[in-house]
Amino acid sequence: MSVAHYSSRITIPQLVARKGGEPIAVLTAYTAPVARLVDPHVDAILVGDSLGMVIYGMTSTLPVTLDMMIAHGKAAVTASSHAAVIVDLPFGSYQASPEQAFRAAARVMVETGCDAVKLEGGIEMAETVAFLVARGVPVMGHVGLVPQSVHVLGGYKARGRDPKEAERILEGAVAIAEAGAFAIVIEGTIDPVSRQITAAVPVPTIGIGASAGCDGQVLVIDDVLGLSGEFKPKLARRYVDLGPLISEAAQSYSADVKAHRFPGPENVYGLPKNSA
Ligand code: KIV
Repeated sequence: MSVAHYSSRITIPQLVARKGGEPIAVLTAYTAPVARLVDPHVDAILVGDSLGMVIYGMTSTLPVTLDMMIAHGKAAVTASSHAAVIVDLPFGSYQASPEQAFRAAARVMVETGCDAVKLEGGIEMAETVAFLVARGVPVMGHVGLVPQSVHVLGGYKARGRDPKEAERILEGAVAIAEAGAFAIVIEGTIDPVSRQITAAVPVPTIGIGASAGCDGQVLVIDDVLGLSGEFKPKLARRYVDLGPLISEAAQSYSADVKAHRFPGPENVYGLPKNSA
């Protein structure tokens, strides 16, 4: 077989090899311009189903569809060339059976060109993870606060304070790692439990509201850029406050239009210079 083009993207085995080494930096990105900007600086781009809330203003991730994930996944892959791109499987596209999960994952992999998919869940998803990995789909797991189960959990509060729940989360992470997940997101889980999971699994853990002891960290890009308004989740750090800048730019533009200052001579088309 001849291979015409080798990608210079970070590969899934390269991410796995970072266990216990240099921390893995992951950001979400849902659009081509943002994926292009973050790509050189991160090890992986996560096209998370958080896009339902962040981009579409939904109140949870549950209404996100496979077609939405594919459209945004394709944009992120097209606009990036360095970071591995991982795309979330949305609620309802994989929980029914390993076969249903394979059909959804295959569509995502083929139609976006991404490197891997992510799905939420512990022990109950281990069989599905093994089924996908055996069929060529790299899978990132996601345990702890799993937003697709918000109605079962009763909210977005940190998990693992109760020792029995902590044990269940740990067992779930171990089960999906044993099933072949190449990495595991630990979301909203108290520090000691996140550290215990990180010590117990042979694959990188990627924390969000978890622990500095994880093998990497992920944040939602809008929280990093200051685009989430007054909503400032404890787990995130706002590195720049773009919200007021966007608002000021819109205000200046509107004022210019109303005062006939925009468009200026440099913004309009005329006849070619040599026309009589
Ligand atoms: O959907 C998402 O963005 C995620 C991250 C918060 C880990 O799953």
